Amino acid sequence: MITITDVHKIFNKGKANQVNAVNGISLEIKNGEFLVIVGSNGSGKTTMLNLIAGSVLPDKGTISIDNADVTKLPDYKRGQWIARVFQNPLSGTAPDLSILDNFRLASLRTKTKGLSVGVNDVFKKQVQEKVASLGMGLQDKIDQPMGTLSGGQRQALTLLMSVMDSCKVLLLDEPTAALDPRSADVVMRTADTLIRDFNLTAVFITHNLKDAFNYGTRIIQMGEGGIINDLSGTERASLKQNDLFDWFA
Ligand SMILES: Nc1ncnc2c1ncn2[C@@H]1O[C@H](COP(=O)(O)OP(=O)(O)OP(=O)(O)O)[C@@H](O)[C@H]1O
Ligand SMILES: [Mg+2]
Repeated sequence: MITITDVHKIFNKGKANQVNAVNGISLEIKNGEFLVIVGSNGSGKTTMLNLIAGSVLPDKGTISIDNADVTKLPDYKRGQWIARVFQNPLSGTAPDLSILDNFRLASLRTKTKGLSVGVNDVFKKQVQEKVASLGMGLQDKIDQPMGTLSGGQRQALTLLMSVMDSCKVLLLDEPTAALDPRSADVVMRTADTLIRDFNLTAVFITHNLKDAFNYGTRIIQMGEGGIINDLSGTERASLKQNDLFDWFA
């Protein structure tokens, strides 16, 4: 569980260009919850995600993950809990290394779920099986450099690698924004399956209202650094796509 209590983030404090990016947000994200965040440009979504990841530290308030207070912990010390996928498919993997070596790197970084790095043939076969589960036909290309793949293929592999870590929390900031509709669809369905299979707690930022409607167990709308709407359970289940469009009218 992620517990966020009265968190504030102010940029350029005391200057003419001061921005209250996150303005006293309190939020409890339960284990296994798949939270979707929508909101206009500049409403504080990415800052919120950065606060959870630790790449931005709050000016006020506290954040804890599984009852551990991580408020002052920088992002590289939150690796045991958190994996991230960014908008840019290039930021998740090493282009000159093969798919297999990228998986090797990822599994060295933390203790990896269900993979034994030691024995080479065994590892290769396990990676092939995992990659085959994406249904993209990439299992025959695992010796090919990552850089030769399309953005969608790379993003799907990044996703797979990141959740195979021992992490519990998956943070997705517009992971499909740079992809064509078909690749975006594959990546979203992959994310959804992995979140269920590994019982991850996920936070997914999107401007795509169709994805916001189709995925997730809870939806939050942010505006001016605060939470405007927050629907889960039966309220989320009875939300109509048009209601969601109305939020932005
Ligand atoms: N490092 C920074 N320095 C100064 N201002 C910042 C910084 N990061 C974010 N901001 C400001 O904080 C506000 C919230 O930004 P944020 O990136 O969280 O918005 P967002 O909801 O993710 O927007 P978008 O939908 O465009 O990605 C914006 O006004 C932005 O200009
Ligand atoms: Mg953003």
